[in-house]
Amino acid sequence: MALLEVEHLTKNFGGLSANQDISFSVQKGELVGLIGPNGAGKTTLFNCISGLYPVSSGRVIFDGIDITFLKAHDIARRGLARTFQIYVASGDLNVEENVMVGCFMRTPSTAKARDRARHVLRELNLSDLSNALVSELPVAAQKRVTMATALGSGPKLLLLDEVAAGLNPNEIEDIMINIRHIHDDLGVTVMLIEHVMELVMNVSDRVMVLDYGRKIADGNPKHISKDPEVIKAYLGERFVREHKEVLT
Ligand SMILES: Nc1ncnc2c1ncn2[C@@H]1O[C@H](COP(=O)(O)OP(=O)(O)O)[C@@H](O)[C@H]1O
Ligand SMILES: [Mg+2]
Repeated sequence: MALLEVEHLTKNFGGLSANQDISFSVQKGELVGLIGPNGAGKTTLFNCISGLYPVSSGRVIFDGIDITFLKAHDIARRGLARTFQIYVASGDLNVEENVMVGCFMRTPSTAKARDRARHVLRELNLSDLSNALVSELPVAAQKRVTMATALGSGPKLLLLDEVAAGLNPNEIEDIMINIRHIHDDLGVTVMLIEHVMELVMNVSDRVMVLDYGRKIADGNPKHISKDPEVIKAYLGERFVREHKEVLT
């Protein structure tokens, strides 16, 4: 049984179809990349899966249960966590407190939530920042804190929305190490939206491509990067030329 099954999902905003008849499944243990041009419907798909937006039609099955009409909070409690593309730091919280917000999904006890937050921060090499105010951190660290907060909620499936956008190569490397650790060592199934191709092609077992709300490709990274339709819609000839060594 797949961990996530999305069946014929459509999401319309007035006359615009942001997601059109999208079907796919994610197996437990997979790391799936989701790419496509701006406005292709990637974030909308995450919003529909995580219960933030009601779908126009279609179904979402998570861990054997139809979650299509559940509230976002119930879905999170069942083990589906996500980060947001536009990060809004939570007021005056420091890093540890911010991560505790995620941990309260698993325990009502402040002491246990704090222990759990400390553990998660250690796992992601963020302990040094525990007492820093989230709003005063550089963007790269904030992105990693959002991952830690999501991880604190104890997800089976983690949806990451552009966690590497706008970061420099060293910061991307740190994020990549965090993602690999979450997936490879902590056993969390991951789906990630990403424009940084070095990251997405490197870590993903499988890559899905959206264009104008439709799924136009789904396969292993090497296969995807040679797909003429994907190159035309998104990657471009230049990308293929410049990344020959990664792709062959
Ligand atoms: N809440 C909303 N209301 C109206 N239109 C929206 C909303 N969210 C997204 N859209 C539209 O849906 C399309 C897909 O957006 P989005 O999912 O954010 O794309 P991506 O994440 O791939 O860049 C865009 O045309 C966007 O303007
Ligand atoms: Mg987006």
